[in-house]
Amino acid sequence: MKTKSKSLFSKICKFYCKKESSTVDHEIRDVCKDLLLTNDQLKLVMERLAEEINRGLNKETHNDSIVKCFTTYVQDLPNGTEKGNFLALDLGGTNFRVLLITLDGQNFDMKSKIYAIPQILMLGTGNQLFDHIAQCLALFVKDLNLQDEVLPLGFTFSFPLTQHGLTKGFLVRWTKGFNVSGVIGEDVVALLEAAISRRNDIKIDVCAILNDTTGTLMSCAWKNRNCRIGLIVGTGSNACYVEKTEKATCAIAGNYNPHKPHMLINTEWGAFGESGVLDFILTEFDRVVDDNSLNPKKQLFEKMISGMYMGELARVILEKLVDNGLLFGGKCPTDLKKRGKFFTKYVSEIEADPKGKYHNCREVLAELGARNVTDQDCENVRYVCSVVSRRAAHLASAGIAMLLNRVNENNVTVGIDGSVYRFHPHFHDLMTEKISELQNHKFDLMLSEDGSGRGAALVAAVASQKR
Ligand code: GLC
Repeated sequence: MKTKSKSLFSKICKFYCKKESSTVDHEIRDVCKDLLLTNDQLKLVMERLAEEINRGLNKETHNDSIVKCFTTYVQDLPNGTEKGNFLALDLGGTNFRVLLITLDGQNFDMKSKIYAIPQILMLGTGNQLFDHIAQCLALFVKDLNLQDEVLPLGFTFSFPLTQHGLTKGFLVRWTKGFNVSGVIGEDVVALLEAAISRRNDIKIDVCAILNDTTGTLMSCAWKNRNCRIGLIVGTGSNACYVEKTEKATCAIAGNYNPHKPHMLINTEWGAFGESGVLDFILTEFDRVVDDNSLNPKKQLFEKMISGMYMGELARVILEKLVDNGLLFGGKCPTDLKKRGKFFTKYVSEIEADPKGKYHNCREVLAELGARNVTDQDCENVRYVCSVVSRRAAHLASAGIAMLLNRVNENNVTVGIDGSVYRFHPHFHDLMTEKISELQNHKFDLMLSEDGSGRGAALVAAVASQKR
């Protein structure tokens, strides 16, 4: 009797163990092993990023630096007394948006509209792009019947700019999916103003141009006085932070006040790695994604973290697993062979399945043309997604840990926006855990909803108050 019940017990045990953990095949783990980063590797990433940031800030090395650390000319954080109607444009993330924001003490009201930027404009000429932006702006203003007011506008333009003041920003390079001719080296505010005056039907006063990281920090700081860092993990990835003005010797021109103790610095950390300092963690998969991108050899850190590349990275790994006969019985679903077809949102969806359940995973695989997949296939696909997103979260954490050390205060809040941070089911937790392991300051990660749009209005508000 005793032996009988023992064997029944062990059968039940086996059944549940099997059910609970369809374990990932070890061959799959082996193919993915270079994507798992140890804390020692991440600490080396922190050290190297810190060196690059010093080079960017220093006027002697700024011109040749990779992580540019652009001065933003934003020296005042909002204090909650900002008032009035402000327009904001937000270009450079998943969507192009026009916003009207009404500020009044701690209340704010926002109307916004999303407009498409057809891909043909993302790869067209500067005049076409800015005429389109001005047209969307005019439609929005007229819809609200505000065409006769002179409205202050903040322009969130999420690309690297050399700024010579709050309203002068020269484009250094396009990143993400944009490659528009005739804009690099030009003052983007002047291009926008020229397009608005070509139309001659609305009155706009451009008060500020800023990066989405700056907008995110400002928008978070409006509510939270401890905010010192703004982070984007969306289509692209980048961070800005509050630096001592004396450290930013690269601030060469423009209307900034060197006596104010602080200034926001837009690090443009997406470019980190272009000098080879990240080669020790780059994998064969990163190289494939990079080779096939619009900007090979550029923005390497960004390509390991952000949403524009995350799905594609997972796809490249999955394709290799199928080719090696380790997934789907070696038969590749049609769309898995096609570049760009494994969307980044799939990574979030697949990882949102509860442990041992594969509902979302099966749906995604069906969309790609794979039906009748086994639980084991699903478990393996989920593993690949989790390896890619964990590495992204850990690299972003290394960057934030380094900035927290730099800011060197306790209880700093990091304002974060971007589709990956928002929609990935574990990104926030992964980052919180890893940042705590990599440095010793207390900190908070806070979703800065609508950071880039609202932040633009806040920068415009602070600037127009000063005027
Ligand atoms: C890219 C841009 C940068 C922006 C980031 C997030 O890295 O160069 O300016 O902040 O994407 O949108």
